Amino acid sequence: MEIPTMIETDSRAINPPSDPCVMLIFGASGDLTGRLLVPALYNLACDRLLNENFALLGTARKPLTTEQFRERMSSGIEKFHTREKFDQAVWDNLVRRFHYVPGDFRDLSAFRKLRGEVAKLDAQHKTQGNVLFYLATDPGFFAMICGNLHGSGFKDGPGWKRIIVEKPFGSDLRSAVKLNEEILALWDEKHIYRVDHYLGKETVQNLLAFRFSNGIFEPLWSNRHIDNIQFNVAEAVDVGDRGEYYDHSGVLRDMIQSHMFQMLAYLCMETPASLDPDDIRDEKARLLKSVRVYTPEEVARYVVRGQYGPELDERGNVVKPGYRQEKSVALKSNTETYAAARLHIHNRRWEGVPVYLRSGKALWKRGTEIVVEFKQSAVTPFRNTHVRQAGSNRLIFHIQPHQGIEMHFYAKIPGPRLQLQPVHMCFGYGEAFKASRYTGYEVMIYSCSHGDTTLFSRGDLVEIGWRIAQPVLDYWSASPPPEFPNYARGSWGPKAAADLIQRDGRNWHEVVPEELLRKVAIFKDGDSLFLLQVMMALRTRQAAPGETIIQKGDMGREMYLLIRGEVEVMEDGSGFVKILKEGDFFGEIALLLMTPRNATIRARTSCDLLVLDKADFDRILYDHPQFAEGVAAVARDRYNVELCYLSVLGYQRCVDRLASSPKAEP
Ligand code: BG6
Repeated sequence: MEIPTMIETDSRAINPPSDPCVMLIFGASGDLTGRLLVPALYNLACDRLLNENFALLGTARKPLTTEQFRERMSSGIEKFHTREKFDQAVWDNLVRRFHYVPGDFRDLSAFRKLRGEVAKLDAQHKTQGNVLFYLATDPGFFAMICGNLHGSGFKDGPGWKRIIVEKPFGSDLRSAVKLNEEILALWDEKHIYRVDHYLGKETVQNLLAFRFSNGIFEPLWSNRHIDNIQFNVAEAVDVGDRGEYYDHSGVLRDMIQSHMFQMLAYLCMETPASLDPDDIRDEKARLLKSVRVYTPEEVARYVVRGQYGPELDERGNVVKPGYRQEKSVALKSNTETYAAARLHIHNRRWEGVPVYLRSGKALWKRGTEIVVEFKQSAVTPFRNTHVRQAGSNRLIFHIQPHQGIEMHFYAKIPGPRLQLQPVHMCFGYGEAFKASRYTGYEVMIYSCSHGDTTLFSRGDLVEIGWRIAQPVLDYWSASPPPEFPNYARGSWGPKAAADLIQRDGRNWHEVVPEELLRKVAIFKDGDSLFLLQVMMALRTRQAAPGETIIQKGDMGREMYLLIRGEVEVMEDGSGFVKILKEGDFFGEIALLLMTPRNATIRARTSCDLLVLDKADFDRILYDHPQFAEGVAAVARDRYNVELCYLSVLGYQRCVDRLASSPKAEP
């Protein structure tokens, strides 16, 4: 039998251009239009996916002429386009189809004027009466605009009419239900396209492709084989100038209830009967309905919140503001900029598998990942060998900025003895496909023009999401928050989030970039393969100010890399020796010597640490002579012991020598 090397497709049949239409954008002078919508249209035009029979009509209160609007968009596209090379001819052909009419959304007569303009453009560009309305405005206007569109007769006439509504859709369950009622009293569900731009991301869409086109994973996709699932959406950006919106929102509304629940539904839903939009949305709804709606006691137990504080210099001066000092944020605001939760899904597939979610602003990195951690095998034939219990396998979906899929498993280390080491297999989008980077809005506009609702949220889905979030909102507004701010800018978030998962005997899986490890002197010059081995072995730990990390006299079982914060080294419990800072490491000598710790190390500030356990430390030392030499060099400096022969083969001799050395520290 001949095995096909690729799936045969007719790309033109699969990707016909968008349907002809006039796109009427409300809020066209705002940030979203210039930064995302227009670059998305430009990408579609470059890829010949935008119909030639297309026109854009922008409207907002700002008094701009069509010429001025085109100029604004032209200078914006230079900054915001996502292609490697800018194609001036494509842009010129696109921008000449842009028009602008100022107007007040509250004024019905402004809508009548818009209707006249749309009719003119329809005739001029032969758009067959199709109109795509894009509501890129403050959410407070959604119901009013839908009402005025209806009142001015936009629903009538030939062609299709579709309304794209940006998020947030409501600010709680009650307002979302009301908004649905108001809009659906005049328009049908089939007219309404509720955007969640995460569904436009290739890597999120690939969750479905991955699950349902690869027969090898679906049989494993349940509580029989999966131990837990983690969703992490970390943002390095702070609230910036969005304080006015954000202070009434917070991360639960802004990210978790919307984007993260959508990803959760894709990852965990049952197989849909078909890829028909409603079949997919029915399964998503069914999944979200199975998520336990918490009682107040459960909120207190399973959900934590955080707010970032200012960044201070050595003298305690503010370098970057804390959340409460951001523009338009209340001085005593209790709005959360971070949240972490453990959710329970009550269905046959997922009963007993905890789902952990966390998201926050002003964190140490930008990165969205989903980690599926499999159960360790119950029976292992390695019992009487040198192999300790192998860890679990993990499947990691890298959503952004790195886009790909990674599988962690165990392999034998070459050599006469049986030893295992975690290794990984990786698929990187960028390497596998050469397609240009999209903003995520292309597919939204394109799908909407074809009447494909798959990537949009349905009214009931939005309400189900709010139903899960509502008890948390209620509990938080009724009970005082923990002492805010409770996490430092640029950190991993509040310690309470680490405690939440550690209570279950688990850890957040942190995707640590190579650059972070290179901050630590012994890893600075390590090659990528070596660093990867270290990264796969590391686990995270956070320490609060004053917390003892290493206690003099204890047996050493791990070494620490200090990623953020300061610790102090104390002898005899109080005698201060020195301060260690970001990039320092400690605890390695006790591992080499296998003697009790001979100093206490305590956090001076809140600290983020990476921990390397002894078994991994030994394995890496054995496998990587250069690491052994780095440790030796530090030992030489710190402890005045000549360790230049510390190497794979000389490891034991080194240990013996160190053991007899009179001067040793942790
Ligand atoms: C938006 C939120 O929906 O998503 C923002 O309102 C957030 O606060 C943004 O920064 C994140 O989107 P992305 O695509 O950068 O992950």
